Amino acid sequence: MLRNAWYVAAWADEIDERPVEQQILGDAVVLWRKADGDPAAVSAFCSHRRLSLARGQVLGDRIACGYHGLQFAADGRCVTVPCQQGVPRGADIRGYPVAQRYGLVWIWMGDAALADPATIIHIAEWGSPAWGYNRGASMVYDCNYLLITDNLLDPSHVAWVHPTSFGGSSCEAVPMRIREAPSGYTVSRWIMDAPVTPFYRDLVPFAGHADRLQHYEVRYPSHAVIKAVFVPAGQGGDDAQTDWGKDAFLMDSYNFITPETESRSRYYWFQLRNVRPDDAHLSQAMSAAVLSAFSEDLAVLNEVQRGMDTCQDPHISIATDAGPLRYRHRLGQLIAAEQSA
Ligand code: FES
Ligand SMILES: [Fe+2]
Repeated sequence: MLRNAWYVAAWADEIDERPVEQQILGDAVVLWRKADGDPAAVSAFCSHRRLSLARGQVLGDRIACGYHGLQFAADGRCVTVPCQQGVPRGADIRGYPVAQRYGLVWIWMGDAALADPATIIHIAEWGSPAWGYNRGASMVYDCNYLLITDNLLDPSHVAWVHPTSFGGSSCEAVPMRIREAPSGYTVSRWIMDAPVTPFYRDLVPFAGHADRLQHYEVRYPSHAVIKAVFVPAGQGGDDAQTDWGKDAFLMDSYNFITPETESRSRYYWFQLRNVRPDDAHLSQAMSAAVLSAFSEDLAVLNEVQRGMDTCQDPHISIATDAGPLRYRHRLGQLIAAEQSA
């Protein structure tokens, strides 16, 4: 897995002065909030007898182990050992750079000297009063994170996995366009002059058929920006268009996957929409509908993992796999380059 990258460690409101342990890229990490309000993260296990620091207590900016009271600073340095002068060699543990953005705590899992919070994804519409916001609890998938990035680069699956929400029969036959950028891949298509599918019916502010853009973008290491655009039929079809007109419905779905291990992944998500930004009831309804649809993905992907684990014969690929396969290939190159550096 790519280590020199920012991953989501937790929702910001999950981190307070009580330490919590999270599994991230196979590392056990303990997070807490310091006296100045900034989050902090260190390796979970105390250097003395390996008790998890999640059982310890936060003392100002430090965390104290709950067994014999060793104290660690946010950078992992051991600063106090009770009942003795000085700190023995090897007492330090690993500290992880962290930063808070978009209501989430982000963690850098690689070389701390390379961590730059300016490289965390930029969300231009965040905080704008014209955009409504909804979110749900993080979800745990019992599958490898790349099965999720496959899914998030694959607009075709909505016709089969989400026929009563995001998808519909109009979504089946339209071919995809694939674009590469330094940050990752985008698979997109316009579905022209089609009925609005169920999830969007109460959101789209015009009647009749729509031209619909499905923009599925996945960025390294495992972050997806899924944009939905609905405009009245006849007004869409151009990816380069940015002014969508007053009737357009836009929804930007942000999806951040944090591998816990090779076979377990945590999924953080929220949506921003350009209609009824202050409608709390709508935000709630959207979160419930998204959770229901994502639960469909979860059920399928957990079963795909089981199929992959159980049946060792080679599986095939089809045309709609082109984007996901290219993404995996490029990510594999980035990981190889990082490991050989
Ligand atoms: S196990 Fe942490 S101080 Fe002893
Ligand atoms: Fe899905």
